[in-house]
This record gives sequence, C-alpha cells and structure tokens, in this order.
Amino acid sequence: MKTFLICNLLTMNSKRLFKTQVLPDAYETANRLVMDLIRYIGHMLQYRENIYIALSGGNTPMLMFEIMEKEYGKAIKWEKLHFFWVDERCVASNSEESNFGNAYRILFSKVPIPKENLHPIHGDEDPIMEVVRYTGEILSNVPCINGFPVFDLILLGMGNDGHTASIFPGQVDLFETTAVCSISQHPQTLQKRITLTGKVINNASEIVFLVTGANKADKIKSVIDENDSFIFPAKKIRPNQGTLTWYLDKEAAAYVEVP
Ligand code: 6PG
Repeated sequence: MKTFLICNLLTMNSKRLFKTQVLPDAYETANRLVMDLIRYIGHMLQYRENIYIALSGGNTPMLMFEIMEKEYGKAIKWEKLHFFWVDERCVASNSEESNFGNAYRILFSKVPIPKENLHPIHGDEDPIMEVVRYTGEILSNVPCINGFPVFDLILLGMGNDGHTASIFPGQVDLFETTAVCSISQHPQTLQKRITLTGKVINNASEIVFLVTGANKADKIKSVIDENDSFIFPAKKIRPNQGTLTWYLDKEAAAYVEVP
C-alpha cells in the first residue's frame, strides 16, 4: 500500500510512525480502504501466489465487507486470498456476536472464495484447545520471519477504550508473550475471546486501522499525539518492518489537525 496511499495529512515530515487517511464519512473511508486493498493485492500478486490477510470483527468492518461484496466482488481474485481472523468471541459461528459468522454472512457466502481459503477461529471449541489448533493452522499456512508469522495485511479496529484485536487495557502482557495467539477476556462482559498477540500483529507487512465515529475521536487524538504518554493497546501497534495506516472518517479524526 506504500506506493498507492495518498496521505491526507503530512505525516511523512512529522516523522510519525504511521500514515493517515481521513475521509468525509464511514462509507467513503471504508471504500477508500477497499480500493487501496485491491491495489495492494494486485501489486503483491505480481510476486506472490497467495496473500494472507487477518480480519478484525466488531461493527465497523461490516460496511467494508458489504462494499467488498457489492462494489468489488467481481474485481477480486478470491482464490488467491487466505483470510484469518485477528480475534474471535468464544461463541458459535451462528451467533450474531461471531466475527467470522458476520463476515461470512455479509461477504464470504456471496463471493467465489474456496472454503479452504477461510481460516476462522472456532469460537465454540474449548478455548485452550482452540489456541493450540489455530496456532498450528496459522504456522502451517502463513510465512514466518524470526519465528513469527508475517501476515501480508492485518485489519484492525479500535474500541472507544483503546482496545484493539481482543487485547484490552491492562492486558499489555499480550504484547510481551511469544505465543501466536492467546485467550483473553472482555473486562466488562467477561466474555472469553481468542486473539492474535501483539508480536504477531506488529510483525505484519501492512497494518491498517479502520476507525469511524465521534465516540473514537478522543482516543484517536491520543494515538496521533506522540507526546500523549497514556498508553493503551491500539497505541502499542507499531509494525516491526511493515507499514501502519489509519483510515479515519472526519468524526473520528475530529481532533486531528489537517494542514
Ligand atoms: C472485536 C474486534 C475489536 C473491534 C473493536 C471495535 O472482536 O470486537 O476485533 O477489536 O475492532 O472492538 O469494534 P467496533 O467496530 O464495533 O467499534
């Protein structure tokens, strides 16, 4: 995505560790991300047979999945893409809370992607056993560098408490562990989750955040403000060798100065 991104903010000369795209509304933001994703995939498929992508869940990406299916379903070489999940709630895939279930209902059930190219976390399995199984599935498919899988692209969201993946405030040990994925727990609902760990996320070639809505604006301000020392999981996303890009709508970027 490095060569296709048009930065709306002059982030290069501020030596920021990330790029920022600010679009008028949630639809335009998701649409720009999909267009950049398609360009990136086309670019990478000149050198690669398969592309490995990990998707987050929650509400925000649903619009993106809808756009991918409705506007670009025929433009994407689905058979070349392998989709994993950044995290999953420990629920059955037919639950409305299931990240995979929602992505499948909105997108993957409507496009010609081979079943074997979808690598969901099995939310209804015993979490301890599923961590072992899912780790093995990742390591047997995704290329590794320094012992960690290197996803070509990881799509993240951010909660208004600054969590990302299913790494919640106070769980920063999930950025220290050498495990590929781990069990976590939602601090309020106590719902068990399975999540990729921080080291795996930061090992990706491209990390993109899709964040929209006014309720995320204060955390976005804190992320963008290098001097703000308040650390929360989304702020610990720093790619080791890849690129980090924030796709924000105007509401989420309300406190971000646009030159
Ligand atoms: C999840 C996600 C999580 C999500 C944020 C934002 O399983 O909930 O992976 O990290 O990205 O919670 O969620 P919204 O898009 O619903 O605000």
